Amino acid sequence: MNTASLQSASTLPAHLAGEMRSNHAGETGAVWIYKGVLAVSRDAEIRAFAEHHLATEETHLGFFEEWLTSRQKSLLLPLWRLSGFILGAVSALGGRNWVYASIEAVETFVVKHYESQYAALEAYGDTTLTAAIHQFCDDEADHRDEAGGEAEGQSSLLKAWCWVVGFGSEQAVKIARRV
Ligand SMILES: [Fe+2]
Ligand SMILES: [Fe+2]
Repeated sequence: MNTASLQSASTLPAHLAGEMRSNHAGETGAVWIYKGVLAVSRDAEIRAFAEHHLATEETHLGFFEEWLTSRQKSLLLPLWRLSGFILGAVSALGGRNWVYASIEAVETFVVKHYESQYAALEAYGDTTLTAAIHQFCDDEADHRDEAGGEAEGQSSLLKAWCWVVGFGSEQAVKIARRV
């Protein structure tokens, strides 16, 4: 990603700074989801899936990591890392189908989250930033579809877990917009 033409993050209006803080927090969580999966799973197919996704999440995280000032980042990063790790580890304990269903649930939320920023980004007018967020959202949609294509039927327990994952992601974003 060419970030040379990006405007400084320190001039972001407050509402977009909050959105970008939540993006940085979310990508931190995403990296740690896959670390959690890789810490638990011995399934070669799941490990390849997680390693492939992890590489993409690291580029997303790297973008916000470099661009945002440290004061613009969430104060709760240890919590986002821990939550991501637990989410990944629990889903890996449940096996292949749990990992795919959990990733599909997370990415379904993340796609909507990024899409909700499009209008504000358009109004702000930094074309490099807008292109980056669109690119990330497309990557997340690929992750969602890839996981969704592998997922099989869901037990009631797995359905409940996916609901918790989606609800938890939503709450995390609300908090990370502020702190
Ligand atoms: Fe991502
Ligand atoms: Fe993703």
